[in-house]
Amino acid sequence: MKQKDLLYTGKAKSVYRTDAKGKLIVEFRDDITAFDGGKKDVLAKKGSYNAEVSRFIFEYLEEHGVKTHFLSMIDERRMVVRELAMVPLEVIVRNVAAGSIVRNYPFKEGTPLNPPVIVIDYKDDSRHDPMLNDDLIIALGLTTAQELAKIKTVALEINRLLSALLLKQGITLVDFKIEFGRQGRTIYLGDEISMDSMRLWDKKTGASLDKDVYRFNKGDVMATYNNVAGRITGKKSPAQNKR
Ligand code: ATP
Ligand code: TYD
Repeated sequence: MKQKDLLYTGKAKSVYRTDAKGKLIVEFRDDITAFDGGKKDVLAKKGSYNAEVSRFIFEYLEEHGVKTHFLSMIDERRMVVRELAMVPLEVIVRNVAAGSIVRNYPFKEGTPLNPPVIVIDYKDDSRHDPMLNDDLIIALGLTTAQELAKIKTVALEINRLLSALLLKQGITLVDFKIEFGRQGRTIYLGDEISMDSMRLWDKKTGASLDKDVYRFNKGDVMATYNNVAGRITGKKSPAQNKR
């Protein structure tokens, strides 16, 4: 398969057309951003850590019956995916209160949310991704009621599967964001699931193991990403093997 022209450049990934019908290449770049693009850096190897974790999680979810866009890896930062018509929703699942719901609502950080809370934002940078509700999603024609119900069911199933996977590695899945898209009439999980899109806390120490280390200058971002990628995928990187 050949990589063709650039279709889209986002804040952290680039999407390319290919010569294969219905397939795209997603490249995970080393760019890292936070606060609506207000903080930006390039951190060597960040893209490959996120690509590796996304690949591992997509394969794990597929094995457990979740339909994802993932097809194969080309190299450590490029994956072949199904071309989707993306649904412009950021579907966030929360198991523990942290981040924006603590800033915006009277939750105390660290409070368990049981059952998990789903928050859905409208993916529109020019509007700063406002929160939606079911009626708005349907009135805007973003999904049908049936599709929305399916998206929520799949999001909760992904949460169940991912929480269990991470817990085995001593990691609490605090919250995460996923995106869905359509190919024909089928809804697939798209985009990525990585340290940029999950909030992860070490179960023992409570330490942040995700992009919060970058957002709030909590330590060495790439050492954290390297370590977490190794813990999640079960593979130690060459750097970790040396220790
Ligand atoms: P944000 O960081 O707010 O999620 P972005 O657009 O800057 O937005 P990137 O991850 O840099 O995010 O860009 C990747 C883009 O590719 C996103 O717009 C995403 O919705 C889109 N995308 C992901 N998977 C697919 C797919 N399978 N088919 C088509 N587009 C996809
Ligand atoms: P949230 O608490 O809403 O925002 P912030 O990270 O700014 O405090 O984020 C919840 C989770 O969803 C967190 O793990 C990061 C992820 N997320 C994204 O990956 N992209 C986004 O645009 C948003 C809003 C959240």
